[in-house]
Amino acid sequence: MEQVHVALLGLGTVGTGVYKMISTNQDVIARQTGRYFEIQSILVRNLDKERNLKGIHHLLTDQFAHVLDKQVDVVVEAMGGVEPALTYVKQAIEHGCHVVTANKELVARHGVELEKLAAEKGVQLLYEASVGGGIPILGTLQHFLKVNRIHKVMGIVNGTTNFILTQMDEGGRDFDDVLAEAQQKGYAEADPTADVEGIDAAHKTAILSRIVFGVAVNVDEIPRRGISDVKRVELQLANMLGYKFKLLAQAEQFGENGPVSCSVMPTLVPHEHPLAGVSGVYNAITAEADQAQDITLVGQGAGEKPTASAVVEDVTNLYRLPLVHRPILQPSLFVPHRNETGLSF
Ligand code: NAP
Ligand code: HSE
Repeated sequence: MEQVHVALLGLGTVGTGVYKMISTNQDVIARQTGRYFEIQSILVRNLDKERNLKGIHHLLTDQFAHVLDKQVDVVVEAMGGVEPALTYVKQAIEHGCHVVTANKELVARHGVELEKLAAEKGVQLLYEASVGGGIPILGTLQHFLKVNRIHKVMGIVNGTTNFILTQMDEGGRDFDDVLAEAQQKGYAEADPTADVEGIDAAHKTAILSRIVFGVAVNVDEIPRRGISDVKRVELQLANMLGYKFKLLAQAEQFGENGPVSCSVMPTLVPHEHPLAGVSGVYNAITAEADQAQDITLVGQGAGEKPTASAVVEDVTNLYRLPLVHRPILQPSLFVPHRNETGLSF
């Protein structure tokens, strides 16, 4: 089976998830792509840090130059921040590697130039994990856009803040206590100010605007407000009045090819609205379209496994087999599922 050589930049929450998933789901991935994916090297900042993964030490390096010394087909960037990620991603593309990134800040601020560079070099830059964690939102919207005009996207795009608001509201907990748990679970950004002040959500809103409306929005011009000053008593009061407090991101186009307006704001959502019931680290994104009308996708918006799923989805999309060439399982390989009542489906 043909091998694909992957280099991983970063071995934190996302990088660790990607490393594990490429090992544990190798059979699924091989079935979809006809290829075997192998991690060749892993770039980290601190070689002395204790890692919970066995047998990886020979792969670790703290020098990006060593990453490109080996044969690499795909570079997965899961470091975060703009620099040095931007420099490394550019060098990887110049080197002829496809790049998959989970880094919303990088894509929101430099996606246009990086995509241009990738096109010039005949490689791809993919970033499904940059919005909505494990929800395949960017791919779905791009399919949807083949036959629909979307005029608005709106939703909960930050898992940390939704986790905080839910725990404060339903669990009666304090903001700092819940934020610390979100950090410990790997949901929050390296600097959680980006989460709680709506900066991360603004990055995602800019990416959604580019995908949906083809408009490059300046992230720093998106009106935004975070949740750092939201009080528990305000959440309780909202509840009594029939609302949930949610940090909502919105991007809307006024008329075909018209201006696009974006915002990130704590918003009172009526209890009966589908977004009001999206709790914990879950995200939900609604697209309003002229033909299909509304679609809403819901899923876990942050964390190791969901994010790794989105990253690996991109990696395999680079090599997905055409449908006609996918191996068909023999009927004898199917085992009927039995539930506890003994009924099979
Ligand atoms: P993280 O846990 O902080 O891990 C970052 C990793 O990158 C670490 O392994 C770190 O090395 C390495 N790194 C950072 N700066 C480096 C440098 N200058 N040189 C070499 N290595 C460097 O971050 P994360 O949560 O995995 O997030 C990574 C990216 O994915 C971010 O862009 C984030 O926004 C995005 N993302 C995260 C999630 C999530 O749920 N966490 C979801 C979607 C997208 P050391 O281990 O040696 O410190
Ligand atoms: N810090 C981000 C969040 C990670 O909480 O949504 C996923 O993008």
